[in-house]
Amino acid sequence: MSNIQLCYNIERQDFSKAGEASSNIKKALRQLGINSGTIRRVAVATYEAEMNIIIHSEGGIIGVTVDVDKIRIDAKDTGPGIEDIDMAMKEGYSTATPEIRELGFGAGMGLPNMKRYADEFKIESSVGNPTIITIVIYL
Ligand SMILES: Nc1ncnc2c1ncn2[C@@H]1O[C@H](COP(=O)(O)OP(=O)(O)OP(=O)(O)O)[C@@H](O)[C@H]1O
Ligand SMILES: [Mg+2]
Repeated sequence: MSNIQLCYNIERQDFSKAGEASSNIKKALRQLGINSGTIRRVAVATYEAEMNIIIHSEGGIIGVTVDVDKIRIDAKDTGPGIEDIDMAMKEGYSTATPEIRELGFGAGMGLPNMKRYADEFKIESSVGNPTIITIVIYL
């Protein structure tokens, strides 16, 4: 069986489409008959990645690859990158503006939750460069 790939473009600051990609991913996984616990984990990871790209980046893409034994999520944006990854991974750390916090974001829980729900988690980033997140969830 060949694997199945989904890919979504995420535009910066486009709150009208917030959660759209992760919700489409959820639907596609349901149609593939993936179990609901796994779908929930993928949904959390893709939603947090999607919101981070909308809020913190210049825009990017989220790819999902469904394999026989695992689901892989690739989130990649075009910058501006993260200065201190260890800090960004801490629960409660956020650079979100007051305006963003008013929309209900900026608790500083997105990255820690992505890691918590993942079997494998990798983040690469530095100032002036893309942020690239790779998550694997075993089936
Ligand atoms: N794609 C990204 N590009 C640039 N900076 C990012 C990106 N993703 C996260 N960050 C930085 O890492 C911080 C922590 O991210 P995290 O998702 O944990 O929290 P948050 O987005 O601020 O709040 P929450 O996710 O709880 O709404 C962000 O505030 C931001 O400074
Ligand atoms: Mg976030």
